[in-house]
Amino acid sequence: MDSLKQSLNECIFMNKSQNAENSGDTNQTEEMDQSLHELFLDQLADLQNAEKQLTRALPKMIEAANSEELRDAIKSHLKETEGHVSRLEEVAKVLDENLRQKTCPAMEGLIEEAGDLMQEQKGKPSLDAAIIAAAQKVEHYEIASYGTVRAWAEQMGHQEAVDLLQQTLDEESAADEKLAQIAETLADQEGSRE
Ligand SMILES: [Fe+2]
Repeated sequence: MDSLKQSLNECIFMNKSQNAENSGDTNQTEEMDQSLHELFLDQLADLQNAEKQLTRALPKMIEAANSEELRDAIKSHLKETEGHVSRLEEVAKVLDENLRQKTCPAMEGLIEEAGDLMQEQKGKPSLDAAIIAAAQKVEHYEIASYGTVRAWAEQMGHQEAVDLLQQTLDEESAADEKLAQIAETLADQEGSRE
C-alpha cells in the first residue's frame, strides 16, 4: 500500500512538472483527494484509539455508579464500544488500508476529567449526575468525530465506509439519548424525595 501511495505521489509530482502551465486545477483536485484521504485515515486511527481508551474507562464508571439503570446503560455501551473498535478496523479493510497506531489526547483529557470528577463526587448524591455528565461529554465528542469522518467518506464516494460509520454514529446517539433520559429519571426521583 505504501508503494501505491508513493507512486500516486510521484504521479502527482510528474503531472505537476510536466503540465505546470495548463493543468493546475486537475493537480490541485488530485492533491486535495489524496490529502483528504490521508486525513480521513488519520482521523479513523485517532477515533480507534479514543474507543480503545474508552473500553478501559467505562468499567470504572460502571463500578462507581449507584443507579442500576445507569450501570446497565454503561455496560451495554461498553459492549458497543468494543464493537466500535473492530468496526473501525472494518472501515479500513473495505478501503484496503491499515490504521496506524495513534494517541487521541482529547479522549485522554475527557477521561482524566471524568476520573477527577468521580473522585470529587465520591459518596455524594450527585455522583451519578457527574458520571452522566462525563459520559455525555465523551459521547458528544464521538458524535462530532464520527459525523465528520462519515461526511468525508460520503464526499469521497466510499459508500461501504459511510454505512459502517453510520451504524456507530447511530449507536453513539442512542447511548447519548439513553444517558439524558436516565439523568431525567434520577432528577425526578431526587425531586420526589424532597
Ligand atoms: Fe463508540
